[in-house]
Amino acid sequence: MSMTPRETPLLLSPLRFDPVRVELQLIDQLRLPGEEVWHRYTDYRAVAEAITTMVVRGAPAIGIAAAFGVVLGAKQGAPLDEVIATLRRTRPTAVNLFWALDRMQRRATELGAGSPLSIDQLVAALTAEAQAIWDEDVGYCLRMADFGAPLLPPGNVLTHCNAGGLATGGYGTAVGVIRSAFAQGHIRSVFADETRPFLQGARLTAYELQKAGVPVTVLCDSMAGHLMAQGEIQSVIVGADRIARNGDIANKIGTYSLAVLASAHGIPFFVAAPRSTLDLSTASGRDIPIEERSTEEVVRIGPVRLAPVGVSARHPAFDITPARLVTAIITDAGVAKAPYPESLAALLAAT
Ligand code: MRU
Repeated sequence: MSMTPRETPLLLSPLRFDPVRVELQLIDQLRLPGEEVWHRYTDYRAVAEAITTMVVRGAPAIGIAAAFGVVLGAKQGAPLDEVIATLRRTRPTAVNLFWALDRMQRRATELGAGSPLSIDQLVAALTAEAQAIWDEDVGYCLRMADFGAPLLPPGNVLTHCNAGGLATGGYGTAVGVIRSAFAQGHIRSVFADETRPFLQGARLTAYELQKAGVPVTVLCDSMAGHLMAQGEIQSVIVGADRIARNGDIANKIGTYSLAVLASAHGIPFFVAAPRSTLDLSTASGRDIPIEERSTEEVVRIGPVRLAPVGVSARHPAFDITPARLVTAIITDAGVAKAPYPESLAALLAAT
């Protein structure tokens, strides 16, 4: 039996978990939209590899996958400190990964403090915690959609990367807001940046929105400024991988350029992220670690090499958008506006 929280055709979740086999299943996001292939995992090290190689990606989704990785490690009888350390080393920028692993670590410590548990009892208790992280994330997405949908002005919205169901427990952050805004008649259609080099926008956001019946048009990343100047884009909304205490945002490379363009054209720039993406221990964007990925991902598209052999390339996978360029941050507890240090702290303290 596969267990998928609140699974409806609307949600589109990148994970499944089978509690009988103690098996995690992940849809291979490297092969979408061409093929819908699900891989099965019973070894936590393979889950770590799936996060590193981006079979599963998106800040909340990697947190949930890692939480189930801890469940698999418990079933394997591996020392949980080692399991958690391995999963922490996968990707450095999205704080949801560390948030979810810290939560699993705390639960394991609580369980260890009681009377000794069998492996099956430990696995059942850790499964319940991972499942709660997943279920809660779906709830966060639906609440962000409720808070955010009315904020999008009429017309067309632009999004970058994939902050959809595939990047979360289901439904999505920025894409969830977009889906609800379209369903409520607030917006006409969506522009999806292709998002070089991994093409999350062209491959995944376009796939999700098409499946959801939301009109979507793919753009090369370099086209946004022109369309803004032509009056074709009325708002921008993106997700986030980490939000610092001062409201600076780490998100997919290219987000900062969009925020600058939006500001230059007087277009609102929204960020949608659950509170598990807020990192109040990080003072500003300067303190957020930016993942540098292989330059092979830049000089090639799939198997096709674009740049000459031997030429150098760069691949910072994220950038920092300063808080002053962000119109509002939509969270599961409400909408934060400047001054962000105060508004974010208040939302984090809210129940
Ligand atoms: O490298 P990725 O695909 O994991 O990057 C994903 C993003 O940048 C998303 O915008 C972010 O994680 C928010 S997902 C709800």
